[in-house]
Amino acid sequence: MVDKKLSGAGLRGQSAGETHLCTVGKSGTGLTYCGYDISELAEHACFEEVAWLLFHGELPTIEELTGFRQLLKDYRRLPDALKRCLEELPADTHPMDVMRTGCSVLGNLEPEADFTQQHQVANRLIGALPSILLYWYRFSHDGARIETETDEDSVAGHFLTLLHGASPSDVHQRCLDVSLILYAEHEFNASTFTARVCASTLSDMHSCITGAIGSLRGPLHGGANEAAMAMIEQFSSPEQAVAAVRDKLARKDKIMGFGHAVYRESDPRNVIIKAWSKKLSQDADNAQLYAVSEAVENVMWEEKKLFANADFFHASAYNFMGIPTPLFTPIFVCSRVAGWAAHVMEQRGNNRIIRPSADYVGYEARAFIPVEQR
Ligand SMILES: CC(C)(COP(=O)(O)OP(=O)(O)OC[C@H]1O[C@@H](n2cnc3c(N)ncnc32)[C@H](O)[C@@H]1OP(=O)(O)O)[C@@H](O)C(=O)NCCC(=O)NCCS
Repeated sequence: MVDKKLSGAGLRGQSAGETHLCTVGKSGTGLTYCGYDISELAEHACFEEVAWLLFHGELPTIEELTGFRQLLKDYRRLPDALKRCLEELPADTHPMDVMRTGCSVLGNLEPEADFTQQHQVANRLIGALPSILLYWYRFSHDGARIETETDEDSVAGHFLTLLHGASPSDVHQRCLDVSLILYAEHEFNASTFTARVCASTLSDMHSCITGAIGSLRGPLHGGANEAAMAMIEQFSSPEQAVAAVRDKLARKDKIMGFGHAVYRESDPRNVIIKAWSKKLSQDADNAQLYAVSEAVENVMWEEKKLFANADFFHASAYNFMGIPTPLFTPIFVCSRVAGWAAHVMEQRGNNRIIRPSADYVGYEARAFIPVEQR
């Protein structure tokens, strides 16, 4: 079998196009959105500012930000036909399938007539996706037909209010806001590349985002934070966690939330969400989950020199905010939709259909044998 690392499998390290939106792991720059370092954005900006930055290439003025926030608020309402579709989905369906279906149904009810509407559709999706998820979740789990409009100014506050039925604390609101900033954009990752390939055929925005949601669903991509939670909640002490992780590594199991296709030494998002996880653990007076997570991080570095990526400490941080594990990856969608839409706009702005070729490794040319002679 060909060595995957030598054969160029996974297109690792190959450039597949240009972007103005983001750098990932480039020496001296790390993770930047439109030239701004992720640590500065996570410290000083809000998610809505970051979404505007990705769509327009510049940070908004205070007037622009205020107007943008109001626009997103106005887009939280769901059409009745979409609510009826969501009510038909089973309670045990995968919430990422709800996101995929919800996006696609919206594309039927409010199609993008032409590309002049691309900003409107992108903004509508940022406004509507949390409502789609939580309308279905609350209906299928509590039998409640919730009002999907709230007075919360931020996407983060809106999400937590719909989930818990009450306004979140400032700390929880800000932690989720930072999480949305960290997840908003990441260059040519699998889901964004899916969106760009779809955009390159001149397809509509809803199709591009629906396809991207499908790519994000897999455990090697967005699903890693849920898998990390499923693992850490099994451990009742750091010692037990360390022993179990050593066993898993000996069996060559993958530990979700570790490693990265581009970063080699660390993921710059980890230090930020890890600090938030620690803070929430102290506020919640729940030391164990954080201590277990840190022990797993340490043993992974000792044993394999593998570092926690953005997903690992998101698991405990989300758990401390009372977010059910199956909703972790859909939150990633609520954030990354900004990056996906920005990439769709960028692709459309200088488009050529994306159509790579393959190295053929199959049979030599051979004669056809009629079915009765086989
Ligand atoms: C992200 C990921 C898909 C990158 O894959 P990749 O680029 O093929 O990984 P690498 O080439 O760096 O892998 C190097 C080695 O480390 C191993 N490795 C990588 N991530 C690992 C993990 N999380 N746990 C255990 N071993 C891991 C690989 O199996 C490989 O071992 P080998 O040389 O014996 O084959 C991979 O690290 C992974 O599956 N991580 C877990 C899922 C995850 O957290 N995804 C979210 C990414 S943000």
